[in-house]
Amino acid sequence: MNPTKTNRQTILVCFLAALAGLLFGLDMGVIAGALPFIAKEFGLSSHHQEMVVSIMMFGAALGALCSGPMSSSLGRKKSLLLGAVLFVIGSIGCAVAHNMEVLSISRFILGLAVGVASFTAPLYLSEIAPERIRGSMISLYQLMITIGILAAFLSDTALSEGGHWRWMLGVITFPAIILFVGVLTLPESPRWLAMKDKHELAGKVLKLLRNSNKEAQDELNQIRESVKMKQRGWQLFRHNSHFRRSTYLGVLLQFMQQFTGMTVIMYYAPKIFEIAGFSTTHEQMWGTVIAGLTNVLATFIAIALVDRWGRKPILKLGFSGMAICMGILGYMFHSGISNPTEQYAAVIVLLIFIVGFAMSAGPLIWVLCSEIQPLAGRDFGVTCSTMANWIANMIIGATFLTLIDTIGSPNTFWLYGVMNIVCIVLTILFVPETKNISLENIEGNLMRGAPLRLIGQQIFKGIRPDTAAAK
Ligand code: BGC
Repeated sequence: MNPTKTNRQTILVCFLAALAGLLFGLDMGVIAGALPFIAKEFGLSSHHQEMVVSIMMFGAALGALCSGPMSSSLGRKKSLLLGAVLFVIGSIGCAVAHNMEVLSISRFILGLAVGVASFTAPLYLSEIAPERIRGSMISLYQLMITIGILAAFLSDTALSEGGHWRWMLGVITFPAIILFVGVLTLPESPRWLAMKDKHELAGKVLKLLRNSNKEAQDELNQIRESVKMKQRGWQLFRHNSHFRRSTYLGVLLQFMQQFTGMTVIMYYAPKIFEIAGFSTTHEQMWGTVIAGLTNVLATFIAIALVDRWGRKPILKLGFSGMAICMGILGYMFHSGISNPTEQYAAVIVLLIFIVGFAMSAGPLIWVLCSEIQPLAGRDFGVTCSTMANWIANMIIGATFLTLIDTIGSPNTFWLYGVMNIVCIVLTILFVPETKNISLENIEGNLMRGAPLRLIGQQIFKGIRPDTAAAK
């Protein structure tokens, strides 16, 4: 079997699965530009506008919750297909909505789709990619999210001229159809197949995706070993303290990602440009597009480095950069921005912050969350962490403006600076390095009681294997 061909096949499969991220990004990014026109046409109060925005995150949390059991029973592929169908229905619903109720229901359906996609796509990617490029392939998913956000910002800017909000929302139907067709061609996850005792099929998929039959057979053997433990999700969570640790770590990681403050920048970029002294809508829209573009470009840094430098050094670097930028921005807002030089300096600091996020916590948190869970409880563990992402996302989105109003912009940005410092400490204490190590090896360490920050070691020597059974 030709090694290059096989690798290309894997990359294509990963690319198609990562398309789900594009839809996630499009739906996250699109509403900022569409909302003013929707509010005008339906005469919405601020409260109703908040509802139109946040009902999607509510749907996403619920979608993520249902995805665990669903992808466990139906399989990863069928879950992704269902997600794609929901994207199509939700987008068409938004485009034709004639009142706020229909629009809200459609946004809720989109939320369900985003929840399913944000759960299933990284999980599928982590199960299908060979370990040496696993980090890059899951980062590809984050790259798609950022491209989706940027595309939404751009199409909003282009369509805002005529106030075509129905097109802004409706145009997402096309990538959703492409996702559906793309997913139809994907193979099922070999790990899920093995979990369902379909070992022969799992072997076939692995042969298609690996460089040699031997590599495929070795991986299948490892997977068979790890699926012997039959406990599942909630049961495992109740009875196994090691699995509880990895579940809590996943939740913590997603909270860390959201509390960096990046989501605030993505949702409220125009507002932040306004605080920095850019008063016209035109300036704010283009500033937002530049922020989106920076986000996309810097994600490539992560893709290039994640499997070489490892997860932990990049995370520490990213959180440090973000902490410094938040500190400087707080200081600039505190001392007042009074001339164009200071305005542009603030934009540069903001862009460096975005680089810090996009090259680290943006992709790496998704990477880690899908890597740290043991197979028997992976669906449950990833469900919990993905839900945590959406819950934290809702909290952050709903409190930013209130924070600015109550404690002021400088303190708000300093607060985020402090949270980034806390993230550095948490990374040092709890985050494992999972570079170049198989998921089965990580699982072995975790279930043997290795401290969380050491579960990515090749062979963890500190604990005797027989203590695992006792837990
Ligand atoms: C996060 C989003 C964030 C986006 C920005 C994602 O990984 O989950 O909350 O807005 O990255 O690129």
